[in-house]
Amino acid sequence: MNAIDIIKTRHSVRDFSDRQIPTDILYVILEAGRLAPSAQNSQPWRYIVYTEPEKIRELSRKTGLVGKSNFFIKNAPCVIIACADTKKNVRINNQDYYLVDTAISFQQMMLAAWQYGIGSCWMAAFSEKILAKYLDLPRSYRIVGLSPFGYPKEEKGLYSKTLSFVSGSDKRLPLSEIVQFR
Ligand SMILES: Cc1cc2nc3c(=O)[nH]c(=O)nc-3n(C[C@H](O)[C@H](O)[C@H](O)COP(=O)(O)O)c2cc1C
Repeated sequence: MNAIDIIKTRHSVRDFSDRQIPTDILYVILEAGRLAPSAQNSQPWRYIVYTEPEKIRELSRKTGLVGKSNFFIKNAPCVIIACADTKKNVRINNQDYYLVDTAISFQQMMLAAWQYGIGSCWMAAFSEKILAKYLDLPRSYRIVGLSPFGYPKEEKGLYSKTLSFVSGSDKRLPLSEIVQFR
C-alpha cells in the first residue's frame, strides 16, 4: 500500500485475533514513532509496550480499563501506552507542544502498523491517575493516549460494529467545511 492508501483504509480496530505481532515488525512500528517530527526536535514521547497476554489482561483489569468502554483492549496481543515527558515540553504562543509531538509520533506508529495489516485504536477513555500509578511513571510524565495493536479478527463484535456505524471513518466532514482557500 502506498501512503494515501494506508491513510484511506486505516480505521479503528477493536477486535483482535490471537496472532502475535512478529518482533521485527513491532520494531518497525516503534521506529516509525521514533522518527516523528517534534517542536525543536524535543522528542518528548516515551512508550511503554506490553506484549504478554497475561500482563495485558492484568493491566486492563487493574487500571479499570475493562470496566469502561475499552474492555476490548484485554484481548489485544500488544498494547502501547504513549506518554510524554513534560520536562521536554516546548511552549510556543502559550501552547504546550508535547501533546502535538506525541500524537504525531503515535499516529505514525499506527499508520506504519496498518501497512502490515496491524490495526490499532487511539484510546483516551481511561483514568490517567490510576494508570500512571500502576505503571509507576515519573511525575513529569503525562499519558497522552494508548492503543491496542494487533491483527483484526475476521468478524467484528457488536460493540465495534455499532461504534463504526455511529462514528466510523466514513463520517468525516467534507473539505468544504474544514478548508478555506484564500
Ligand atoms: C484522541 C482520541 C481518543 C480516542 N479515544 C477512544 C476511546 O477511548 N475508545 C474508543 O473505542 N475509541 C477511541 N477513539 C477512536 C475514535 O472513536 C475514532 O478514531 C473515530 O470514531 C473515527 O473512527 P476511525 O478511527 O475508525 O476512522 C479515539 C480517537 C482519538 C483520536
